[in-house]
Amino acid sequence: MAKSRVQFICQNCGSVHQRWAGKCDACGEWNTLVEEGTSGGIGSGPANTRNTRKGRAVVLTSLSGDIEDAPRIVSGIGELDRATGGGFVRGSALLVGGDPGIGKSTLLTQAAAALASKGHRIVYVSGEEAVAQIRLRAQRLGVASTPVELAAETNVEDILATIADGKRPDLVILDSIQTLWTDLADSAPGTVTQVRAAAQAMIRYAKSTGAAIVLVGHVTKEGQIAGPRVVEHMVDGVLYFEGEGNHHFRILRTVKNRFGPTDEIGVFEMSDKGLREVSNPSELFLGERHAKSPGAAVFAGMEGTRPVLVEIQALVAPSSLGTPRRAVVGWDGARLSMVLAVLEAHCGVRFGQHDVYLNVAGGYRISEPAADLAVAAALVSSLTGLALPADCVYFGEISLSGAVRPVAHAQQRLKEAEKLGFGSAVLPLGSEEIAGGIGAGAFQPTELADLVARIAGSRRGRADDDE
Ligand code: TYD
Ligand code: MG
Repeated sequence: MAKSRVQFICQNCGSVHQRWAGKCDACGEWNTLVEEGTSGGIGSGPANTRNTRKGRAVVLTSLSGDIEDAPRIVSGIGELDRATGGGFVRGSALLVGGDPGIGKSTLLTQAAAALASKGHRIVYVSGEEAVAQIRLRAQRLGVASTPVELAAETNVEDILATIADGKRPDLVILDSIQTLWTDLADSAPGTVTQVRAAAQAMIRYAKSTGAAIVLVGHVTKEGQIAGPRVVEHMVDGVLYFEGEGNHHFRILRTVKNRFGPTDEIGVFEMSDKGLREVSNPSELFLGERHAKSPGAAVFAGMEGTRPVLVEIQALVAPSSLGTPRRAVVGWDGARLSMVLAVLEAHCGVRFGQHDVYLNVAGGYRISEPAADLAVAAALVSSLTGLALPADCVYFGEISLSGAVRPVAHAQQRLKEAEKLGFGSAVLPLGSEEIAGGIGAGAFQPTELADLVARIAGSRRGRADDDE
């Protein structure tokens, strides 16, 4: 017989502990264990049904068969459809995470309005705002007359009963998952148990009826979806809505997608009339450039199927500390250490006495290893005080041996650079077929040392264009 029905659940990672402790063994976070009842708890399954009935035989079926309706509902907001992989998938659950105030409700109100005016049945359930507040936002967005069905409700059973009325909705938006609670779990709303149970109920509804659901989730300062990180595993897709506080653009990033690519982004700009699509993001991220400043290099990157040019800024300054500082914004810190080590070991560039700061312009975040070459160029440029040619783009991966390795989509990256007025490029040798344009006269080093020599060589006179 179980002695106790009480367990402690980490609000950060969802692991279950029998005893309270200050620190969670599983994720190492402090003060995240909260006492929660076991019914509907994690790992226990629906305990109340477990003892009362035997298993029911389900009908096994084949892979082929009829699929009703078009599998996706397309909002017509291009940047949103791009991030979802071509529209919301019927019968699927999507989690949209982001900092409070970043614009999740705004985005979803706009999406709801766009879909509703196309004749889809859209239900928007808000647990955070009163109906009047949502109406106010809709007025501001100019979509108040669209037939979106609205409710301010937080109980899952009530929500399910409400939407069961009438025609099955095409899309149900739940804003936010942290406010939902179900009768099946007896913890407070926002706890892992509640969030998980509520999400489960809504996902079950989506799968059984074929309605698409969108769950909105808040993200903590550390960038994790607060509490319901467990929800990420349950849903079919996860989108993060990101942006820097003082920049007005926002990026919708696909983190998980069972029905499409995961490396797509949608780019928006927050205006006084809601979110506006930005279909050419490169112009946005290059907007703040100052020509002729040492330490800046333009990286020709790819986000999914789309090329994005972005400026990488490095500052290498003499350090007064025993252990010099390495600070990175918008890129991976471990990757920076690697590039620094390769520069030291294979190119004779010393950073041991210098602090290194690396920043990706405009609050953008890069995850591609293809940025290595641009980072290395920016670092060397800052250390030597020699500005890189302002009309040049860089891309390529650097291996630990100091070799420059080819990356995919060279042609597309170069085309985008050309379109934006760049006249030269530095890219790996052995990249895919490069037809004419700036690719023809590009500098293609096989070793990182070749690039370092070229930058250092530009000290004598201006950067030589041939070679
Ligand atoms: P909101 O969608 O409420 O954020 P979230 O749901 O992610 O918490 O967006 C709130 C912010 O967006 C708020 O700071 C005001 C701003 N905003 C605009 O700048 N223009 C607009 O048209 C709207 C509706 C909001
Ligand atoms: Mg909101």
